[in-house]
Amino acid sequence: MATAQPGLWKRHEIFEKNSIILLIGALIVVSIGGLVEIAPLFYLKSTVETVEGVRPYTPLELAGRNIYIREGCYLCHSQMVRPMRDEIERYGHFSLAAESMYDHPFQWGSKRTGPDLARVGGKYSDQWHREHLIEPRAVVPASIMPAYAFLDRPLDTEAIAEDLKANRAVGVPYSDEMIAQAQADLTAQRDPDGPGAAGLQRRYPGATIRDFGGGRTRATEIDALIAYLQVLGTMVDFKIYEDKKNLR
Ligand code: HEC
Repeated sequence: MATAQPGLWKRHEIFEKNSIILLIGALIVVSIGGLVEIAPLFYLKSTVETVEGVRPYTPLELAGRNIYIREGCYLCHSQMVRPMRDEIERYGHFSLAAESMYDHPFQWGSKRTGPDLARVGGKYSDQWHREHLIEPRAVVPASIMPAYAFLDRPLDTEAIAEDLKANRAVGVPYSDEMIAQAQADLTAQRDPDGPGAAGLQRRYPGATIRDFGGGRTRATEIDALIAYLQVLGTMVDFKIYEDKKNLR
């Protein structure tokens, strides 16, 4: 009030009576707030907490991911389990930031015509996925998901090394070795008894090596897509996570 603090009021009058000075004053105050929020980000290496088990996608999984994006699966499926009771009971542990840290672009989605897929890995067999993708009604009679039978065609693997490079450019830690071996790893992941299996396992710890139901012949787009779907949500071992939490 003017009578209680005449000095302060007088000084504030300058701001209240002159819009340009008020604007400059507001800008100074907002930029101090901005600096406090933004400046530390330039000194942090990452704002995402790293979590054990999260690794870059193998070339086959990455190829599957590209098909997922190309076909617009994200228009009907989200990949983000929110920390709400109903979601956790239906889909499992809520999504961690680290679980999508190597997703460029991320696939959180914004619409669920179909269920969330963040934790679909391991929920069904490879054969189920194959039948479901070829004709959803064959396994889920009431399904309104489109059929993707045309994905049963040879996978174009030519650009996979370039793809790894592009991902490295935006921060995914693919090594020179991983890029050099990309073509070979793509084939090796479908052949557990093959000569490339051990190398793949070393480069991508925990990667699943099997034919994803497609036999040992040349990989099809469906094989790659299934390899991708089967890894979703399986990298972090939530049993360890829950046990640690209980110990605290
Ligand atoms: C038009 C919307 C739509 C599109 C596009 C779509 N889906 Fe679906 N999807 C659904 C619906 C609805 C269901 C639930 C019924 C069912 O299981 O078929 C579903 C179910 C699924 C399931 C089973 C999930 C679970 O937990 O039971 C998987 C896996 C899946 N979709 C993968 C895909 C993939 C991969 C693509 C892209 C190639 C895709 N979907 C595209 C609507 C869609």
